[in-house]
Amino acid sequence: MGKEIVLTGITTTGTPHLGNYVGAIRPAIEASNRSDTDSFFFLADYHALIKCQEPERVKQSRLEIAATWLACGLDTDKATFYRQSDIPEIAELNWLLTCVTAKGLMNRAHAYKASVDENVAKDQDPDFGVTMGLFCYPVLMAADILAFNAHKVPVGRDQIQHIEMARDIAARFNHLFGHHFTLPQAVVAEDDSAILKGLDGRKMSKSYNNTIPLFDTEKKLKKGINKIVTNLLEPGEPKDPDDSTVFDLYKAFASDEQTKEMRQKFADGIAWGEAKKELFELVNGQLSEPREKYLELMSNPAEIEAVLQAGAEKARARARTMISELRNAVGLVDFV
Ligand code: TRP
Repeated sequence: MGKEIVLTGITTTGTPHLGNYVGAIRPAIEASNRSDTDSFFFLADYHALIKCQEPERVKQSRLEIAATWLACGLDTDKATFYRQSDIPEIAELNWLLTCVTAKGLMNRAHAYKASVDENVAKDQDPDFGVTMGLFCYPVLMAADILAFNAHKVPVGRDQIQHIEMARDIAARFNHLFGHHFTLPQAVVAEDDSAILKGLDGRKMSKSYNNTIPLFDTEKKLKKGINKIVTNLLEPGEPKDPDDSTVFDLYKAFASDEQTKEMRQKFADGIAWGEAKKELFELVNGQLSEPREKYLELMSNPAEIEAVLQAGAEKARARARTMISELRNAVGLVDFV
């Protein structure tokens, strides 16, 4: 039996925050160190173009996200780490899949439907502002996954539908042209530990503007933590850890023992200022080393470039084999 292939992509439109770290980066890196898996992590920069038409932002975000994964300890000898746009085979596969994908399937994609609903609510043309990139987003995502025949795809809940569509598309292709694709499975954290709360207590997310950046300065981290919304209970009054963003964040970085101690401190009425101070110390203690590494990498893009070029070579070797098999299967063959 070959190793289980685990693959996930990160859309390169923003700056990584604590929620990305706890929910995606940290668990993915941990999993990539297991000997029974073969991990593929990539910067989904083709996908970024769907949402973002600011070249500088796309460029900066790719760099920041690449530096983040490397600074957090991703071992690129073990995992294959690359930019989607460095793998032309993905773009080619995207077309082969597009040709077997029912338009009706894409009509049901919720990212597209959300745009249509919004337009309808505003009495606008239903397709106002909808590009073919947005409409076909799930096909490109299927190409990302199927190019490497990934078994498992760790994603947030909002992406489950896309993985199901990738399965549908793969099954359709297999039905028409023979068995080429493994049907991928979404992997979603069962408990809520992967969903970190943001400053306002909702899920930490760029779209809610409630994030704490991962590798900003120590001062900004402290400032971010101090901005977390709390209730008005005074020092000495018992506080409920299970209804507290401060505790939630603390837990995401603490050992079981530390979590237990903090739970007791809440019961004993720790002051919010004190709890935030302890939270800062804990998080900062874990981030200061990777932060230094991050800054070092950001000032040396050539090092990042070299790592990604090597990753692209590894990834392309596989994708090339796959694409040549598929070209054969659909009839795009040399005459002699
Ligand atoms: N669409 C995913 C997101 O926004 C990113 C992504 C692109 C992805 N291609 C992928 C995730 C392939 C998993 C597999 O989160």
